Amino acid sequence: MNASTASASERDEWSKVADVLVVFGITGDLARVMTFRSLYRLERRKLLDCPIVGVAVDDWTLEQLVKRARDSIVATGEVLDEEVFKRFAGRLAYVQGDFDDAATYQRVGDAIKGTKHPVFYLEIPPFLFGRVAQGLSEAGLTATARVVVEKPFGHDLESAKALATELHKYLDESQLYRIDHYLGKMGYEEILYLRFANTILEPLWNRSYVECVEITMAEDFGVEDRGHFYDPVGALRDVVVNHLMQVVAAAAMEPPSGTGAEGMRDAAVTLFRAVKAADPAHYVRGQYEGYQSIAGVAEGSTTETYAALRLEIDNWRWQGVPFYIRTGKKLPVTQTELRVVFREPPPVHLGLGAGEDRRPARDEFVVKLDPSTGARLVVDAHRADGQGPRAITLDAEFADEGGEGATPYEVLLHAALIGDSGKFKGQDVIEENWRIMQPLIDNPPAVHPYAPGTWGPAIASTLVADHGGWQGPWIVESDGDAK
Ligand code: BG6
Repeated sequence: MNASTASASERDEWSKVADVLVVFGITGDLARVMTFRSLYRLERRKLLDCPIVGVAVDDWTLEQLVKRARDSIVATGEVLDEEVFKRFAGRLAYVQGDFDDAATYQRVGDAIKGTKHPVFYLEIPPFLFGRVAQGLSEAGLTATARVVVEKPFGHDLESAKALATELHKYLDESQLYRIDHYLGKMGYEEILYLRFANTILEPLWNRSYVECVEITMAEDFGVEDRGHFYDPVGALRDVVVNHLMQVVAAAAMEPPSGTGAEGMRDAAVTLFRAVKAADPAHYVRGQYEGYQSIAGVAEGSTTETYAALRLEIDNWRWQGVPFYIRTGKKLPVTQTELRVVFREPPPVHLGLGAGEDRRPARDEFVVKLDPSTGARLVVDAHRADGQGPRAITLDAEFADEGGEGATPYEVLLHAALIGDSGKFKGQDVIEENWRIMQPLIDNPPAVHPYAPGTWGPAIASTLVADHGGWQGPWIVESDGDAK
């Protein structure tokens, strides 16, 4: 069952503002690195308005939890406002329990007695999702609740379906809020906004004018201490099937109809249905030298730390326009961007002097998602006589236009608390994404080694050779100059 079978009044109940947040796995890593900080920042912005109950197996006191919260927030570099922290700490409660024990869910029930719209946030390994959903359901806690879950949602199409089947025994699809933190990124929203709010962009945003689309997610760091997690996963499953497919959706989908969350979700799933299953012949895998000596990485591992691939979208807007995706660890920079490359113009004969024998460069429109957000237009300009024509860049850093905005987890936790399901992924999208990637998982090409600090295996350039090679990414040097 993918689609919701719930009635309108049930769905209405499930989207009401939360009156308690219950975090399963609050003593774990994700809470330490992300959750405490995000909730604290919501508190500071006066957007937090309910108790927070942490649940974990560790035998902790409330004082220990408060201390962990404080240490975690400070460790993220946040300057602690004691007044704000006091308010935040005052919301915390702790329930100790084994997730396999029915008594744990009774204690959770006691801790949230009197609340009507709990949000259960499962920051736990996916193999426990079903068990916790069952425990909550059997304790009678799910009737008016919603449940937030973290990736991975399966490791291929079949396992993703099996996970959903398990969860759907206890929860309706519309009670499930699946997190992909890219949906909370300011740059992701910016792509959508820029596309649909600007008349000069939308008419050009199609196969008549676009040569190709390139999405780059480069990271200059390696797998470091995440070998155990990363080695069975690899780049395709870690960031392509989820995060970068969301960037594809933002770049390629039709404008949503209506104003609600459903419109956005429908537009994304409609787009994904039109994406052809990826072809292993257009897939390059790389592994950086030194990866195999990381703790947790299997001897002789063939896991990719670099992936580059080509997707095709079979619809009226995009037929024939390749979408290229590349991502990797230990690349020269950390940078994520969407780059739309427009078709080459014809030669120019204006009699303006030197340089007219040169074919004008293709225009490009870039939206940068990380490490900061910005937009760049690359256009060919004639410039001064002495210099002659050349591509120039028109840049905007959004930090200069009013700051960087909320962090993704702040956006998503807030959305979960107010019942904004548009920022979460439905099972239909999850299954479409796996369908598209499944041939690459079934028939992976050989993995090519690459030196740390390079742009991955040289062979990846053959993927884009027909379309002028990889462009960018747009890097802002520390002197502020864009290169
Ligand atoms: C995570 C991956 O989901 O996303 C990491 O597990 C990756 O490997 C990270 O580094 C990237 O997120 P961001 O927000 O830094 O681009």
